[in-house]
Amino acid sequence: MLDYQAPKNLLTDKTILITGAGAGIGRTAALTYAKHGATVILLGKTVAKLEAVYDEIVNAGYPTPAIVPLDLKGATEQHYRDMSDTIEQQFGSLDGLLHNASLLGALGPFEHLDINSLSELLHVNVIAEAAMTKALLPLMRKSAHASIVFTSSSVGRKGRAYWGAYAISKFATEGMMQVIADECDGSQVRVNSINPGATRTSMRASAYPAEDPQSLKTPVQIMPTYLYLMGNDSINHNGEEFNAQ
Ligand SMILES: NC(=O)c1ccc[n+]([C@@H]2O[C@H](COP(=O)([O-])OP(=O)(O)OC[C@H]3O[C@@H](n4cnc5c(N)ncnc54)[C@H](OP(=O)(O)O)[C@@H]3O)[C@@H](O)[C@H]2O)c1
Repeated sequence: MLDYQAPKNLLTDKTILITGAGAGIGRTAALTYAKHGATVILLGKTVAKLEAVYDEIVNAGYPTPAIVPLDLKGATEQHYRDMSDTIEQQFGSLDGLLHNASLLGALGPFEHLDINSLSELLHVNVIAEAAMTKALLPLMRKSAHASIVFTSSSVGRKGRAYWGAYAISKFATEGMMQVIADECDGSQVRVNSINPGATRTSMRASAYPAEDPQSLKTPVQIMPTYLYLMGNDSINHNGEEFNAQ
């Protein structure tokens, strides 16, 4: 998958929602999916960043995207139900959902863990994903082949000292992926997780301030696996953990 070469029209006629589409890996995934023919729904917190991605896609001549400004921190089930209704009215169904937005939170010893911050982080990284997936699954069942991709991390597969809240949230994400994948087994909806690996973004720079960003892969370089999981070449994969590097 790491050297997967996607055909140019891989995602033609697909509608794909990307969370955290205004920056980092999500931004690049949105541009890459649009470049391969998808109509992308850009969800994120900062409207100006989403508008910049929107303009980039339109200026490149890719399918016209849609913008959903939403702060996952305060979003309720009603927000996701309304979003699902709007997507259904506009597009009829949903073929792809990339859960990408996340908070890193504070890194440090477990005994210093701030429980209020843990709760807030779990709301963005886990509860929002659960509520959004619950609301969008009926719409994804209307697609001939739908793909849900959860974003994990190395510390969501093996715990590591000082990664407290973030690691806990990524283990929960992997668990959620497995539960939904098992329920969707044999259906046209597949559910998998991806670990991007160390990638040149602002989140990575916050976690490793002393690191030389030039030593890291760029978001563009990790896109083959992101494309593979959204396109129909991956329809036989369900409940699996992928690495993008
Ligand atoms: N970069 C790495 O090395 C690495 C490694 C392993 C896993 N990951 C995972 O890969 C994913 C993308 O990471 P990244 O490095 O691209 O992170 P990033 O540069 O920090 O981007 C995160 C994105 O999530 C959005 N977001 C954060 N809080 C939000 C909220 N409350 N509501 C809506 N959107 C919100 C941000 O929007 P705003 O810009 O508007 O705040 C931003 O677009 C994350 O799940 C991360 O855990 C990254």
